[in-house]
Amino acid sequence: SEELYLEYQGLLLPRETHSAESLKFAQEFALKDDDVLAVTYPKSGTIWMQEILPLVLSGGDLTPVQTVVNWDRVPWLEEKRLAQVVDKLVSPRALVTHFQYSFMPPSFRTSKAKVIYVLRNPKDVLVSSYYFHQMAAFLEDPGTFDEFMEIFLDGRVVFGKWTDHVKSWKNAELGDRILFITYEEMVQDLPASIRRISDFLRRNLSEDVIHKIAENCSFQSMKANAMSNFSLCPKEYMDSDKSPFLRKGEFFTCLTTDDMRFAVLLTSWCLFHSFTDVLFCGRDR
Ligand code: PPS
Repeated sequence: SEELYLEYQGLLLPRETHSAESLKFAQEFALKDDDVLAVTYPKSGTIWMQEILPLVLSGGDLTPVQTVVNWDRVPWLEEKRLAQVVDKLVSPRALVTHFQYSFMPPSFRTSKAKVIYVLRNPKDVLVSSYYFHQMAAFLEDPGTFDEFMEIFLDGRVVFGKWTDHVKSWKNAELGDRILFITYEEMVQDLPASIRRISDFLRRNLSEDVIHKIAENCSFQSMKANAMSNFSLCPKEYMDSDKSPFLRKGEFFTCLTTDDMRFAVLLTSWCLFHSFTDVLFCGRDR
């Protein structure tokens, strides 16, 4: 694992996309007041926000999502790539990060940059991550599903434990600077979710524009958009023959008895933390 992962303040990160330099760059990064950050635990809706945010911020202009690959359009704060594309970003800038709250740079605390935290139920995060570990050469082989589940629950995975991630942002007390949205509510009602996001960003978008954005951000549209489905990524790095990046795009699809231990853990954790929105898939917000 040392070959594939580096350790940064106790956090495992893939070497392919992260380095000591990129992490220093992230710490010194000057966030602006009008920056928007989508924060996600891996496999919770990152690429989806890389699609939605530019469209909301531009009032529905399709040019960025049709001409710029997702990782350059809305780069990761912590990845090597940011240093190469930062000068091309036009304000209001959109970025994504998998960082837990404590890893945010000092400029985040002094700026008014807004955060959209996308929460996905950990059962589907685990399943999505399991397939992703099979197709991405820069991640460890996951072994069997049961083996991977243990590793996941222990937090011996990149970006750490799911519960630590969610708790860190829930406890950050950022007031009206943060919007919590669930992957599940986005699947159930994408136009309404885009409306919530655009209201939060104080963009006054017409119903027509909201629907145009929703159409462009559907699972099928994104799967067909080479700029948004990682198909332009070399095969030795991500092999979509093993499992496509946009794999299923659903939730709670296969809660079999094999998953019961995990389901029980998830349920008690959610109840303990009053996370009923995870259990009720956003309906009970
Ligand atoms: S990563 O590697 O952390 O950046 O992955 P991330 O983008 O966060 O998560 C990938 C999962 O998000 C699903 N996805 C979508 N679902 C529904 N609709 C749309 N438009 C959409 N875009 C991405 C993607 O399919 C992965 O989930 P699974 O369950 O594996 O299908």
